[in-house]
This record gives sequence, C-alpha cells and structure tokens, in this order.
Amino acid sequence: MTVSTAADEVLSGQARGFNLFDPPEDYFDDPGPYFRLLRDGDPLHAQEDGSVLLTRYDDVRQVWRDLSGLVYKGDQFRQRFGEGPLLEHHTSTMLFRDNPDHDRLRNIVNPFFAQTSIQQLSRFTQDVVDQEIEKVKRMGEFDFVRDFAFRIPVTLICKIIGVPVEDADYIQAVGRKVLFPLNPKVPDSAIAEGHDAVAEFKTYLLPFLQEIKSRPSIDRAENILCAMAAAQREGVEISDDEILHMCIVTLNGGHETTTNLISQSIHFLMDDPESLKQLRDGEVPIATALEELIRFVTPLQLQGRRTTRDVVLDSGNGTIPAGTEVVLCQASANRDERIFDSPDRLNLARRPNNHVGFGAGIHVCLGRSLARLEASIAIPTVLRELPTLARGGDVRFQRNTRFRGLEQFPVRIA
Ligand code: HEM
Repeated sequence: MTVSTAADEVLSGQARGFNLFDPPEDYFDDPGPYFRLLRDGDPLHAQEDGSVLLTRYDDVRQVWRDLSGLVYKGDQFRQRFGEGPLLEHHTSTMLFRDNPDHDRLRNIVNPFFAQTSIQQLSRFTQDVVDQEIEKVKRMGEFDFVRDFAFRIPVTLICKIIGVPVEDADYIQAVGRKVLFPLNPKVPDSAIAEGHDAVAEFKTYLLPFLQEIKSRPSIDRAENILCAMAAAQREGVEISDDEILHMCIVTLNGGHETTTNLISQSIHFLMDDPESLKQLRDGEVPIATALEELIRFVTPLQLQGRRTTRDVVLDSGNGTIPAGTEVVLCQASANRDERIFDSPDRLNLARRPNNHVGFGAGIHVCLGRSLARLEASIAIPTVLRELPTLARGGDVRFQRNTRFRGLEQFPVRIA
C-alpha cells in the first residue's frame, strides 16, 4: 500500500496546476523537473482545452501503439488556424493523415529512407561534415548550431528531396513558420505567418516539380521529387499539392530535429567530462552512445493523438474517454525513472535503451536511419577534429514546447 504524505499532496497539487499552454519561463531551459512532477503527481493531466497530457512511459507507449493511426486533426486545426494554406498543409501530409492515405503517401518515399539506401550516403555525409569542420576551424569563434550542426542535415535533406542546398537558410526560415503553429498556444500573428509561409514554400517548390514533370522520362531513384512525380505518372494516386506538402514535411522533419540532436549532444557532453572522455577514447561504441543521447535530448518532445474509443490505461492511471485529444510527452517518457535508472544522467553505455525518441506505430520517424547516420558521423568527428572546442558564451534554448532546440550556442576553438 502506498502511504500518501503531505509532501505528496503539495506535489500533486503543483502538478495539477501545470499549464503546457503557458509554461513557466525556466521550463524551456529544463522541462525535466516539471515532467517529474507530472509523472509522480498527475500522470493523466487534464488541460484547459479538454485534451489530456500523458507523461509516463507505459501510458505514452500504449496510446502510441493502440491509436497509432489516428492523427487527422482537420476539425481542431480548422478552429485554430482557420481556412487557408496552413490548414491545407497540416491535413495533407502523411504526418497528419490516417490510413489508407498515410500508407499511400509514405510508401512512395519509404525506399529513400531504408537502412540500405541511407548507408550509401555514409561517404557523402562524412565529406559534408569534413567540409563544415574545415570552415569552422577557419572561423575560430562561431555559433555551433547555425554554423555547424544545421549545415549537415540540411545539406543531406536538400540532396534527397532534390532542391539546391544554397537555399538552406531560406528553407529553415519558412519551415520554422510552418511548424511553430503546432505548439499548444501561439499568437494570431504566428498563425498568419504560418499561412503565408506555406503559400510561399509551395511557390518555391513548384518550378522544381514542373521541370521534372516536363521530362520525357523520370528516374524515380534520382530524388524524392522525382519519385513522387514518377509515381503520379505511373497512375499512383498523388496530387501536385500532396507532392508539394510531402516535400515541405520531409524538408522540415529532415533538418530541425537532427540539428537539435547534434548541437545539444555536444552541449550536454561539454558539461559531462566523464562521458566526453568515454566517447573520445572509444570506450562506448557510438551506436550505443547515440541512443542514449537521443533519449536524453529527445529533440521532438510532444505528439498528438485522438481517441476513437474509451482507452483504459494498463498502468491503472485512469481511462481516457473516446473523442479526447491526447498529448503524448515522449520527452517525459524518456526520463521515466520507472523504466530508466537515473534518467536525468547521461549513461552512454545504457542498455537496454528502449527510448521513444523516434515515436512508435505506423508514424514512427521516417528519417530515423538518416538522423542516426548524420549524428553518428558528426558527433565523433567534432570530438576528434575540434579537441579544444570550448564555450564562447551562454546558450539559449528556443521558446518552443514541441521542438527542443538551442537558439544560440556560442563556441570557440581554444
Ligand atoms: C533526431 C532526429 C529526429 C527525431 C527525434 C525525429 C522524431 C520523430 C518522431 C517522434 C516522429 C513521430 C511523429 C508521430 O508519431 O506523430 C517522427 C515522424 C517523422 N519524421 Fe522524424 N525525427 C528525426 C529526424 C527525421 C529526419 C532526418 C527526417 C527526414 C526525412 C524525418 C522525417 C519524419 C517524417 C516525414 C515523419 C512522419 C512520418 C509519418 O507520419 O509516417 N525525421 N519523427
């Protein structure tokens, strides 16, 4: 029998008062203590908009597994965004489509992200990393996110989609405006910017698609744009709008999260000399260490699902009624002490490590092999080639509850 103490009551009271729509300022620097409060004090947390926030590992996994197909949010997004390009985007890609549409779209692009296809990019990825290392060596002082971490995933994803890497900064800027309105509460100005950004992104991508469609024959293996245009020509159901939105979602998914993984991995390793040494000296294989870094950082923190029936949580934490919007907090699940020993500490050799950083079910991250390839080359190369890398000022985390990333990370080569 668990004995409830006065401290437990204070704790659960504090947890019930937590508001993801308006989190305290220090939440962005370290959400960990708030997640712990919720896991211990209010694991089925009712939110002001009628949704519930799940923070325990078992609960997150159960809902992800059982309801993995139910993501369409047309009605909810229509209320929040109004009609327009932003609504069109967030209801047109595989990310927010249920089956059969999800599989129809994902199957066209899947071959590019299979482990074997991704492995063929190893040499190219190492070359990109080496070039970027040479650039920052020449700079001496630089921002680790902007000048290094971002350059690697954006170069790779531009190549895979079939757009010029010279447009990387533009792609990041419009992409962020498309994604930001997915946060729990955003100002009207961000929604207006989101509509404009989607319209602009489509206008940018359209000429690439038109050029490919004008070719007498299309090599579907050339890049994702070609694969989708070829599928369309062969009679697979996919509209031009769907092609453009699939490019946007893949470009966005392909750079933001991996940038955040690489940069925060280096940030946290700098504060942990023991782990840094383990990795530098090869005491832990990078593949094992990387899973721990993904668990620890969890670049994509939240996910949404909608119940279509009452869901009784196996953990005994309660029942979620049918028709409820559920927010799954994988960032908290990955720090659940019921599953991971000393979860707030990096343990690069941790095994098993069944983190949920890439999700679960049919929407499991499409680009996880690519993200693993990029980070497993970039992180060891930084440690090897920049042994005197040191902080050059304070870091600042983005004010974003969905994507955890560093806005600034000044460094210098000592
Ligand atoms: C460390 C890096 C990454 C993390 C942490 C991450 C995380 C995730 C997660 C948690 C999901 C599940 C979404 C859900 O269940 O609703 C997801 C889906 C997705 N990811 Fe990633 N991702 C990463 C890198 C990438 C890369 C490199 C790509 C490049 C293509 C990518 C593209 C996608 C796409 C398109 C989906 C939607 C898949 C679907 O709905 O079937 N991600 N990602």
